[in-house]
Amino acid sequence: MTLFELPGMLIDGGWRPAGEKGTAEVRSPYDGSLVARVPAAGAGDVDQAVAAARTALARDDFPRTDRIRVLEQTAAALNDRLEHFARAIACEAAKPITTARGEARRAVETFAFSAAEARRLAGEMVPMDASPAGVGKLGFTLRVPVGVVAAISPFNFPLNLVAHKIAPAIAAGCPVVLKPASQTPVSALLLAELLDGLGVPAGWLGVVTGSGSVVGDALAVHDDVAYVTFTGSAPVGWSLVARAPRKKVRLELGSNSPLIVETDGDWARAARKTRTAGFSHAGQSCISTQRIYVHEDVADEFTAALVHGVESLRLGDPLDEHTEVSALISRDDTARVVEWIEEAVAAGAKVLCGGDVTADGLLRPAVVEDAPPTVRLQREEVFGPVVTLTRYRSFDEALALANDARYGLQAGVFTSDLGKALKAARTLRFGGVLINEVPTARVDQQPYGGVRDSGNTREGPAYAIREMTEVRLISLEP
Ligand code: SIN
Repeated sequence: MTLFELPGMLIDGGWRPAGEKGTAEVRSPYDGSLVARVPAAGAGDVDQAVAAARTALARDDFPRTDRIRVLEQTAAALNDRLEHFARAIACEAAKPITTARGEARRAVETFAFSAAEARRLAGEMVPMDASPAGVGKLGFTLRVPVGVVAAISPFNFPLNLVAHKIAPAIAAGCPVVLKPASQTPVSALLLAELLDGLGVPAGWLGVVTGSGSVVGDALAVHDDVAYVTFTGSAPVGWSLVARAPRKKVRLELGSNSPLIVETDGDWARAARKTRTAGFSHAGQSCISTQRIYVHEDVADEFTAALVHGVESLRLGDPLDEHTEVSALISRDDTARVVEWIEEAVAAGAKVLCGGDVTADGLLRPAVVEDAPPTVRLQREEVFGPVVTLTRYRSFDEALALANDARYGLQAGVFTSDLGKALKAARTLRFGGVLINEVPTARVDQQPYGGVRDSGNTREGPAYAIREMTEVRLISLEP
């Protein structure tokens, strides 16, 4: 017996308990306990799922009204089973149960927003007769599905980032084949089971589980896939763009998100929010607050408040209602983050709290001051429970420090000066600039995505649906 008994993976409307490569175990990153057993697919399974998706597209048997119904009913059914999904997320990802509930609630919204967008999605009139050559013609556009979508999702939001790929694809009228993260496929399979039960016709949704290098790779470069939506690491993402140059490959990658705290900003609120924003799910979010730049005039007060808050974070079992921070996804990742902290210390940084590993293998949340801009804690995405603190003298200096990164997902600025807020909005080269908010904030209907190494797309149902459709011009001359 495992904690979650799953029917297998979904291919062409049928559930398969094993893949070409047998089955694989999903174990809790917290205590190693067996969470579920899932199929280990191979390239042949991927071929079959994509072939079924192509056939579904040709059959054209999932009209918009049915797709809207399925999206709305999924939102309602998820809401009814919130606790079940939250427990699945907590067990497979070691996400604390209270945070996991938040993710499940967000997934409800992602489906609801996708249903609303599916109702709205339409082309537009084209004023053909504004040119002499168009006189007498009626022009309008249709938005047509781009084709088969391959969705590759990460371990850190095993339900909501799956929702952000599947729900817009359904809304857009694209069959979708999902490859969930190999560490966290459980909530994705539960979600697929739910969708299947609501009457999604065969082939419109496929789920293939297994290793990224086998299944994800075969899926992303498959000739019959038109569109790839990938959330994960920058090297893997950009290599897919290089290897599939004729597809639309849309990437949502990492970041080392900066937060600027100005003298006129509410630094106490910034410190309170960072306690969560830098450490929620042990910092394993692409928009986890990582690099904090604080004006020297408020730095002492801000630092004291932040360290006090971080030291009070409760570590432990993800299923314990009091736990705020649990295990990283793997012991290797824990060791990697410790090594990055040690590198920063060797280069002159000071650890103000945390950074050590508890007896049960949990990395204690860390605040690291004065890490030089050259070390990995500053330059790379940590994906761990660590923030860096750097003092600055002028707002221009802070903006330059925040921009000095190869990533550009979201940035936050605390200031009560409208002029500074507008300057930040114009100057910071990020997909989102959040004023009086931490960079970790996201609502699911917003455009979400980055520039530079952080990616090349915007997720959020309205934006993803537009990307998953193409404009077709219709010109009518009676
Ligand atoms: C991500 O890690 O990119 C997703 C963050 C979120 O949805 O809050």
